[in-house]
Amino acid sequence: MDKERKLLIAGNWKMNKTVAEALDLVQGLRRELANIKEVDIVVCPPFTALHEVSRAILDSNIRLGAQTMSEHGFGAYTGEITAGMLKEFSVRYVILGHSERRQYQKESSALIAKKALAAHAASLKPIVCVGETLQEREAGQTETVVGAQVRESLAGLNRSQMEETIIAYEPVWAIGTGRTATTEQAQSVHAFIRKELTNLFEEAVARRVRILYGGSVKPSNARELMTQADVDGALVGGASLEIRSFADIVKNSI
Ligand code: 13P
Repeated sequence: MDKERKLLIAGNWKMNKTVAEALDLVQGLRRELANIKEVDIVVCPPFTALHEVSRAILDSNIRLGAQTMSEHGFGAYTGEITAGMLKEFSVRYVILGHSERRQYQKESSALIAKKALAAHAASLKPIVCVGETLQEREAGQTETVVGAQVRESLAGLNRSQMEETIIAYEPVWAIGTGRTATTEQAQSVHAFIRKELTNLFEEAVARRVRILYGGSVKPSNARELMTQADVDGALVGGASLEIRSFADIVKNSI
């Protein structure tokens, strides 16, 4: 598939996998995906598996991401992890503002913007998540909600930082529910996000930013989603936990 931007497919393992399980998974992915050059492949294990996974993917085409990080550089923040600590394990990407963190940890878009700046300061590429709830969609508020999340979560980034930022559109009603947005629904919100980026930055920047779709992505729907003009990859939850399904999503996307 010929696309303007290189596809990026990331597995968000969430709070799953012991170190031994993480190694089984990533070694299998390394075998299955060894020849793939067309897609940037990223795995985001829990913090506890980062070290071992980073060793297991040395000299491979798989890159490492984390699932969150602190906006602070050091100090008395019990339980938190800094961007610099992630860099020690060769982490390149960090998911920020996942809807589960917005919901359960009460992360605001303003906080996510601080984290995005801290990530860039350490040369980590943030994957900033946005998405509306079912209630918001049904009330016709999708663009209002997603537009505000985009503006507020990216506040303060300069153009070159924006180009190194990835956005993930994850409608909350499609996460872990088996209910995928239709390709038209996904494309429509992705195009809207790119238009917002054009307004906030400039067209040349907006054209470079990769916008991933997330929410019940499976081997059977990956290809159709990726054919959409503004869908530049996927953030995969449940289906990233098994070698077969994640490898097939990557292969079917090409
Ligand atoms: P599922 O693929 O399990 O729906 O999760 C999507 C997600 O939240 C990825 O970040």
